[in-house]
Amino acid sequence: MTSELAVETHTLRKLYGRKLAVSDCTLAVRRGEAFGLLGPNGAGKSTCVKMLLGLVRPTAGTGQLLGEPLGAVAARRRVGFLPEHFHFQDWLSGTELLHLHGRLLGMEAGRLRQRVPELLERVELGRQGRKPIREYSKGMQQRVGLAQALLQEPDIVFLDEPTSGLDPLGRMLVRDLIAEQRQRGATVFLNSHLLGEVEVSCDRVAFVKAGRVLETRDLRAPEAVTVVNVRARSVPRDGWGRLGIQGRRQDDASASDPAKGGDPPEAWRFELPRPELLPELLRLLVDAGAEVFEYTPRRDSLEETFLRVVGHEGDGQ
Ligand SMILES: Nc1ncnc2c1ncn2[C@@H]1O[C@H](COP(=O)(O)OP(=O)(O)OP(=O)(O)O)[C@@H](O)[C@H]1O
Ligand SMILES: [Mg+2]
Repeated sequence: MTSELAVETHTLRKLYGRKLAVSDCTLAVRRGEAFGLLGPNGAGKSTCVKMLLGLVRPTAGTGQLLGEPLGAVAARRRVGFLPEHFHFQDWLSGTELLHLHGRLLGMEAGRLRQRVPELLERVELGRQGRKPIREYSKGMQQRVGLAQALLQEPDIVFLDEPTSGLDPLGRMLVRDLIAEQRQRGATVFLNSHLLGEVEVSCDRVAFVKAGRVLETRDLRAPEAVTVVNVRARSVPRDGWGRLGIQGRRQDDASASDPAKGGDPPEAWRFELPRPELLPELLRLLVDAGAEVFEYTPRRDSLEETFLRVVGHEGDGQ
């Protein structure tokens, strides 16, 4: 039976000598989804990826990649990987490098002759293919790295900070490449510090802190807590508590005088336990005589969630 999961791990752990790099990596990544791993520098993201790929042997714990035990050759053939620090054979040209990697993957020569120029074109290196990689800029090296990761149309592609050297156009290219992989049914596993990018590309994210996967969040699901920004006059001081709603005035209460009708509306922030309470709160405000000028529901940005889950401080190395 093929597993519904592309990646499944249980309490993977990695000690480098006495240094605990990863204390608990427990993950489940569904086939066909784009999954992001987020966390501060040194949190253990790259070490997790290397354990999944069989490049680093876990000290403890178990896991499967594409239904095979971690490190199994059968799964590794179906995997693409752009490492965080890549050191390619820089005397080779981009074309030669891709041919070399393709042969190592067991791809046929005919298929490579067609696939390599097509991919170089796709990563916008079409005219640089014959140049040695040592003459490439950092971003050009990253682009050839992306081409290498996608060479054999892998079932799952791991991208460890794929946009770190790329200009804004390159970042858009990565976004499009991720979307293309998903369209053809592949799974994408992304490590990135660029939350905006992750928000656009990923279905789910997991937060990692000090070597531990803390929680997973579904970016496509409606928010569990809905925040509404309200600007209104004569907001009732209580009454919403029975619905489990919390309301807090945002601006300086002493600035306005409720006796005067011409006062500017007050700024309030309400937190709702369920999005279904949105119409209820509005009705409550209006029934209580509030004059509502603005009623704007918003979800927490990924940045706010990141700061809440991972905290402002470092990872406690
Ligand atoms: N080969 C190694 N030998 C010893 N310690 C290592 C090794 N590789 C990583 N570490 C340590 O393990 C911890 C996790 O490193 P890792 O590279 O996995 O973090 P990361 O989350 O990918 O960070 P970044 O966001 O900076 O890429 C760090 O404290 C790092 O110093
Ligand atoms: Mg890393």
